[in-house]
Amino acid sequence: MIRTLKTAEEELLALLQKNRRSFLSTKQISNKLGLHPYVIYQAIRELRRWDFKIESEKGKGYRLTQAPEFLLPGEIKKKLKTKVLGREVLSYRTIGSTNALGFRLAEGGAPEGTLIVADEQTKGRGRMGRSWYSPPKLGLWMSLILRPEVPPFSAPGLSICAGLALARAIRDLSGVDARIKWPNDCLIDGRKVGGILLELSAELDRTNFVIAGIGVNVSHQAGDFPKRLSAKVTSIRMESGKEISRMALLISFLKRFEAIYLNFKKNGLAPQRRLIKKFSSLLGKQVAVKFGKERIEGLAQDIDDNGSLVIKTKKGQRAVRAGEVAVL
Ligand code: BTN
Repeated sequence: MIRTLKTAEEELLALLQKNRRSFLSTKQISNKLGLHPYVIYQAIRELRRWDFKIESEKGKGYRLTQAPEFLLPGEIKKKLKTKVLGREVLSYRTIGSTNALGFRLAEGGAPEGTLIVADEQTKGRGRMGRSWYSPPKLGLWMSLILRPEVPPFSAPGLSICAGLALARAIRDLSGVDARIKWPNDCLIDGRKVGGILLELSAELDRTNFVIAGIGVNVSHQAGDFPKRLSAKVTSIRMESGKEISRMALLISFLKRFEAIYLNFKKNGLAPQRRLIKKFSSLLGKQVAVKFGKERIEGLAQDIDDNGSLVIKTKKGQRAVRAGEVAVL
């Protein structure tokens, strides 16, 4: 069953965190939080399921001895300074896919900016029907419900916007040279550290909603990746030698992405182009792009106002809207 922490559990956790040196009896907790003893008992059980180590002693009560780094809704909200993104926050210990849930919630009318994060995904989705490896604790796995009033053909620009925000947040926190690989990836030194999956509900001329799914490898060490991936992927920790807090990364990303997103909704991609080009890993390189059954080779020259990759081929210039790119 999918569970997110409820208010009672979060309030109890905050109280236990404040009183880490001493035990708190059920009566004391009940008096302070106005919770029924049975609710307290259930909340303790749920927190333990989330890997919080809570000692209990007869006659004394409960004491928190160890807290894992979780992205708890209350803490995210306290730290967020955004207006739209993270307006509603749902946090899961384990989930199939944050994108799948995001899609269902958006269909049910969840507001723009709803954020879904999970510690682990068991059916993480990648692009092109691939899976996305999302083990517990090591990464940032999240989805945002967006409702931009833009035609469906310009929605893919959002993925570059998210990539830009992510590359900048990673650079800020870790100092490594993170880059955007058009159209959906974030790379460090040629290896993938993050990926973006946009899923759209749209009619011909209007976008109903977009689920922006973002996955970032944060604390993995080389042996944490399955063999099939290890040559192509990396993590912030492997590249920077630093243990970055997922919370700090989330907050920094959301702040940057909100500024870019609100601008994108009003003015399109053009105002971001200078930075997108600056942080691009492809421009100036010989590339091959596959889209559908077509494959084009040439020099990656530009990213235009529509977010298309402009390639100088032997037969002239081509602007490609989407595809898989390989550097030659
Ligand atoms: C890619 O293939 O590069 C895109 C990967 C996107 C992964 C993220 S993790 C959070 C969100 N939920 C999913 O199931 N996928 C996206």
